[in-house]
Amino acid sequence: MLKNASLKKYNTFGIDAKADWLTEIDSVEQVLTIIDDLPDMPKLILGEGSNVLFLNDFKGIVLHNNIKGKKIIEETEDYIIVDVNGGEIWHDFVMWAVENNYGGIENLALIPGKVGTAPMQNIGAYGVEVKDVIESVYTVDITTCEPKTFSKIACDFGYRHSVFKLPENKGQYFIHKVRFKLYKKDYQINTSYGAIQSVLERKNIKNPALKDVAEAVIEIRRSKLPDPKVTGNAGSFFKNPFVKLSKLKKLQETYPEIPFYKTENRDLVKIPAGWLIDQAGWKGKRFGDAGVHHKQALVLVNYGKATGMDIKNLADKIIADIQDKYDIILQPEVNFIDNDNRTQ
Ligand code: FAD
Ligand code: EPU
Repeated sequence: MLKNASLKKYNTFGIDAKADWLTEIDSVEQVLTIIDDLPDMPKLILGEGSNVLFLNDFKGIVLHNNIKGKKIIEETEDYIIVDVNGGEIWHDFVMWAVENNYGGIENLALIPGKVGTAPMQNIGAYGVEVKDVIESVYTVDITTCEPKTFSKIACDFGYRHSVFKLPENKGQYFIHKVRFKLYKKDYQINTSYGAIQSVLERKNIKNPALKDVAEAVIEIRRSKLPDPKVTGNAGSFFKNPFVKLSKLKKLQETYPEIPFYKTENRDLVKIPAGWLIDQAGWKGKRFGDAGVHHKQALVLVNYGKATGMDIKNLADKIIADIQDKYDIILQPEVNFIDNDNRTQ
């Protein structure tokens, strides 16, 4: 267990916050022991720290999820059911599936983070969300030590949402294992996203294998998103907002070229927040060491010594400006970590 631990290497924003204590978690039993030994100490569960912003030092103990291992528990001609422990690296799991020709998560290649965090916001990219392949999520309540399994339905997955993000549940359930269903046969590869099609066409690939899709996604992501090892960031800082069709029509009067995507709800469309922020003139802006990325306006960056509050202050200015210009209130996707034991 580390005392007065620097969290700089534990969050992809590279924020130099400290935690009173930090411990590696290698098993569920270890979580239970810590709850027993330190019942009153605030606890923060952390994966790779690729979707958090530390606003200040954390007065409590960080539980760094490192529970490794995976096991195929059922295999038929058509599919496999596999249990993956939460401390596994998400991208490694994707590449394992691709190499073994198990379909379902190839579009989610190169998303940073751990398997145990993937259900938290229902990670998604290039036309696929992790909910499509999740069967159930295994947790332990970090107050009562009770184990609790959430079925896919109980997870209440939505766009960048799950039951684990609700204020009353956040920080409450340690996700230690996730059960997935991946496909061996009759699996429909999803290349609907324009950028994937362009890469495949350029490479003259007509019948893409899972590996081709994963490689296309990796190429696109590397060209668009800053590498946190070089420039601190947490991917998209805000969620893409949903607006009513009537509101879209009003916006189109002033911004006829505004991009939008249809959603399952015919009355709602999704507007790319990156476009709104870009059009409002924020792309590439820098205030001290906090900035808006020069290629992707949805990504806020730490050029070196920004504090969590520097990044949050910039985010607040962007939120106010977007509300002023488009009457849309942006919601952060990133989890703000404050001094208490709950993330926001
Ligand atoms: P952390 O940042 O460690 O934690 C995130 C939150 O989950 C915190 O509130 C934490 O307390 C909680 N938490 C962590 N582990 C557990 C657990 N085991 N049990 C319960 N709660 C837990 N996301 C996408 O969806 N799509 C993308 O395309 C995408 N691209 C990205 C690109 C870049 C460059 C970066 C930096 C991030 C991107 N993200 C994307 C965001 C991020 O990768 C995901 O949200 C990822 O799932 C976070 O995993 P993590 O282990 O790093 O979580
Ligand atoms: N755009 C701009 N200017 C910008 C950025 C984007 O005009 O600076 C426009 C683009 O031209 C495009 C649209 O906005 O028309 C969408 O951009 P992009 O395809 O880059 O996707 P995004 O909406 O910015 C979302 C996810 C990403 C995910 C990609 C690919 C959210 C909040 N973000 O980004 O997820 O990887 O689609 O599916 O939904 C993350 O969650 O951290 C993340 C990176």
